[in-house]
Amino acid sequence: MIPARQACRATLLVLAISGLSAPVCWTQETAHEALDQQVRGFLDASRRQWRDMNVPEVDGQKLHDLVVENGYTTALELGTSTGHSGIWIAWALAKTGGKLITIEIDERRYREALENFEAAGLSEYIDARLADAHQLVYELDGPFDFIFVDADKDWYTRYFEALLPKLEVGGCFTAHNVSSRGRRGSRGMGGFVEALENTPNLQTEFFQAGGGLSISFKRPGG
Ligand SMILES: C[S@@+](CC[C@H](N)C(=O)[O-])C[C@H]1O[C@@H](n2cnc3c(N)ncnc32)[C@H](O)[C@@H]1O
Repeated sequence: MIPARQACRATLLVLAISGLSAPVCWTQETAHEALDQQVRGFLDASRRQWRDMNVPEVDGQKLHDLVVENGYTTALELGTSTGHSGIWIAWALAKTGGKLITIEIDERRYREALENFEAAGLSEYIDARLADAHQLVYELDGPFDFIFVDADKDWYTRYFEALLPKLEVGGCFTAHNVSSRGRRGSRGMGGFVEALENTPNLQTEFFQAGGGLSISFKRPGG
């Protein structure tokens, strides 16, 4: 899939070569650049202010890149907190033309996340819900092509089992504070890493540069 912004750039190039004007595309391009500046400015200014168990920047960047590189558009996050990972994912979705549903159970963090999404200029790409993910994962229809789990660790296996059928083939299931067996990943997660590894047609890798991310792609037949 060609992300919306790349398609616009390609159109601009064709029009430039043929000497035609492209006011709509120019407007979109300008809007995208303005959004990039606003998000970057927000992330730079808030770099040292994430205190609510938020992901480190390197993990946020990784989540962003996974979405952009694979052209994902229908994303779900469990555990919004005050919105750091949500901002990285939604920034990517602004580039692919997608949207994020993110769920948080704590009202104070949920409200702060809403303010942060607004300040970053990303509110229109985010459907933030104040809810218990234990309930909502069963109620959400899906399908999703990108899932990030960063809520209560002892529920990771149940989240995985509930959401795997709602993940599209080619989609990606990621989870935070996870690493391969024997290190920080396995403890308190009720066999989550083993569940990933024992699921046929799921290709899992671990990204260890930050807080630990499992990254699992659903292959055909999965
Ligand atoms: C590690 S923090 C998430 C950090 C966030 N992803 C970020 O980078 O900004 C985990 C969050 O999950 C929330 N949480 C825990 N159990 C939950 C549940 N059952 N439903 C929804 N949210 C839950 C907690 O309140 C907490 O804010």
